[in-house]
Amino acid sequence: MIDLRSDTVTQPTTAMRQAMASAEVGDDVYQEDPTVRRLEELAADMLGKQAALFFPTGTMANQAAIHLHCRPGDEAVVETLAHSHDWENGGAAVLSGVQLRAVDGIAGVVDASALAPLLTPRSELQSKISLVILENTHNMAGGKVWPPTVLADTAAAARAASMAVHLDGARLPNAAIAAGCSMAELAAPFDSVMVSLSKGLSAPAGSLLAGSGAFVREGRRVRRLFGGGMRQVGVLAAAGIVGLEQQIDRLAEDHRRAKSLAEGIEGTAGATLAYGHVDSNIVVLDVPGAGVAELAARAAEHGVLCGQTATGYMRLVVHRHIDDAAVRKAIDCLRRLLVGGDPA
Ligand SMILES: Cc1ncc(COP(=O)(O)O)c(C=O)c1O
Repeated sequence: MIDLRSDTVTQPTTAMRQAMASAEVGDDVYQEDPTVRRLEELAADMLGKQAALFFPTGTMANQAAIHLHCRPGDEAVVETLAHSHDWENGGAAVLSGVQLRAVDGIAGVVDASALAPLLTPRSELQSKISLVILENTHNMAGGKVWPPTVLADTAAAARAASMAVHLDGARLPNAAIAAGCSMAELAAPFDSVMVSLSKGLSAPAGSLLAGSGAFVREGRRVRRLFGGGMRQVGVLAAAGIVGLEQQIDRLAEDHRRAKSLAEGIEGTAGATLAYGHVDSNIVVLDVPGAGVAELAARAAEHGVLCGQTATGYMRLVVHRHIDDAAVRKAIDCLRRLLVGGDPA
């Protein structure tokens, strides 16, 4: 199977499995797991923040950030296609009493001028906007990599209006590799940042939420509230450390292959890049005329698994298990199906 549904399907590397087997562990709820401590210190350092906290999932870490930055009745601004808007089951409302206000970006990017109307003082009759959440790379907008200056300007505009800013950096390693800068540089204008270990970095589970020391101390309380206090979880943290140390540089290969994949399919039977770019490891295609669900079902019969977006596009995600031969096979399969033929 050539599995292009997501980079979350990646299997742990051999080095991860070895590190997991020999990890020193303790009860992390008592803060006694030395491997978790090591991961949190490494992540804080790489993200340029005072501290970081290990979460089971990126969703829980994003929701904890919302809970920490807002009070019930407040609003948090998100881009319409963002994960925290579309894919976290209304968590902001359910878990924190927070109302999300969606703004449309251009290919997921919300520049400071698009945010400006929300940054003016609000009357006491209006809800308070406490938080702006930005997503880099932007998953559903074709793995968009924000131009670093636009990202910094938007974050700075929100902070100047006394709002907190949170970066959903589930794929921040991809953004950093693509933009040619460090994760810390991209995270610098933000109060908090989430980064995932279980996507392109190939770890089996886990995300980090990083910010100031005080933010992370409170974060520990919220993680517990959300049921995310874990025990001998150094076995997972060990894999995460390997991910951060060994799996970031190779993401450039995924980005190169994602471009080849897109170039091979684009133009066939009118297929186009839905957002006009391939910036990282995600390809989002508009395949007019071909029903995406039907196309994906046919492709699966021929050994190519594809994903779909909520907006009716086809999403193909390149990762460590997709080599050049897999890219060629996927191109061949999808091209033939798009023109109404049968893959060889
Ligand atoms: C941008 C973004 N944020 C958050 C998440 C949530 O991560 P998790 O699946 O670990 O909950 C995802 C997952 O795909 C994502 O793409």
